[in-house]
Amino acid sequence: MTIQTTFIQQKTDKILRSPLFYVGDKYKLMPQLKKLFPKPIKTYIEPFMGGGSSFLNTQAQNYILNDIDSYIISLHEFLSSGAKNPFFLQQIFTLIESYHLSCSLKNIIPPKDLREAYKKTYFARFNKESYLRLRDEFNANKTDMLKLYILLIYGFNRMLRFNSKGDFNLPVGNVDFNRNVLKALNDYFYFIKDKNITFSNADYRDFLLSIPLKKGDFIYLDPPYLISGSEYNKLWNENLESCLYELLEKLDSKGIAWGLSNLLTHKGKTNMLLKDFTKKYLTYNIQSNYISFNDNSTKKDSVEVYVTNVKQTSTIQDSLF
Ligand SMILES: C[S@@+](CC[C@H](N)C(=O)[O-])C[C@H]1O[C@@H](n2cnc3c(N)ncnc32)[C@H](O)[C@@H]1O
Repeated sequence: MTIQTTFIQQKTDKILRSPLFYVGDKYKLMPQLKKLFPKPIKTYIEPFMGGGSSFLNTQAQNYILNDIDSYIISLHEFLSSGAKNPFFLQQIFTLIESYHLSCSLKNIIPPKDLREAYKKTYFARFNKESYLRLRDEFNANKTDMLKLYILLIYGFNRMLRFNSKGDFNLPVGNVDFNRNVLKALNDYFYFIKDKNITFSNADYRDFLLSIPLKKGDFIYLDPPYLISGSEYNKLWNENLESCLYELLEKLDSKGIAWGLSNLLTHKGKTNMLLKDFTKKYLTYNIQSNYISFNDNSTKKDSVEVYVTNVKQTSTIQDSLF
């Protein structure tokens, strides 16, 4: 099989998936959200970038992208450098081969007896030992982003998770480097190669106060959700949420455009701070299939909203309130 390792031009209406496959990413919601973003955008600003699905689907002249998680930013910087490096994918495949990991993209798959004995878990069983060795080697100095990226791709639910000592501690997943990963990488490379992007690693308050904001810029915010459980929600609390709303009000008074995603209700809980905040701005109901990170049996009982100070010139969707 020939593997496409050059950048493929994508149709502009296609939704791109981030190669970080981030938990809680906005990939599936982007068709709805991007219609509500202003156009044109001079500088697109994201204080809670995560995997980057939102910026990857937004056209702007410049991008300033921030996250408090230093590994997220290092991984984006690493992937951005890959866009300029013709040997990037080869380096990935060399690492995969040197650890004897499976690679279904190249048809290097677990042997038949293992596939038949463990029909649903054979990738995890095949890769476990090599994955743990790679994990130990990454944890020895925690600086090799190629190793961390491969751990993410082969890890359980493709998450980034660290223990209290700061060691990456995700177990092996039942996944490997496949067509979807290659496609997401190619899309990422193609999108960013001619873009003017600045990455930042700070708390959202320091970040927003540190950048020059001008009319024509747009800030998209997808903070951790106060009323749901995700790994990064542990970093979030009512105080940070209130500060965020105060900051957005100040930005509104200066004529800076912004849009905020959040969860209004979830599993019988209502985010009251958000509910009050929505009364002052345009609020749209976003059709989502929200599933909690630690309870994927949860039935759909959530209301996800997009709140914005951007007045739409045409009615794209009826606002909620
Ligand atoms: C809901 S996720 C963003 C998902 C993203 N929109 C995507 O599509 O992948 C929230 C992000 O906020 C980051 N975060 C949490 N607290 C933060 C803070 N105080 N300042 C900046 N970023 C923060 C987390 O590390 C996480 O990546």
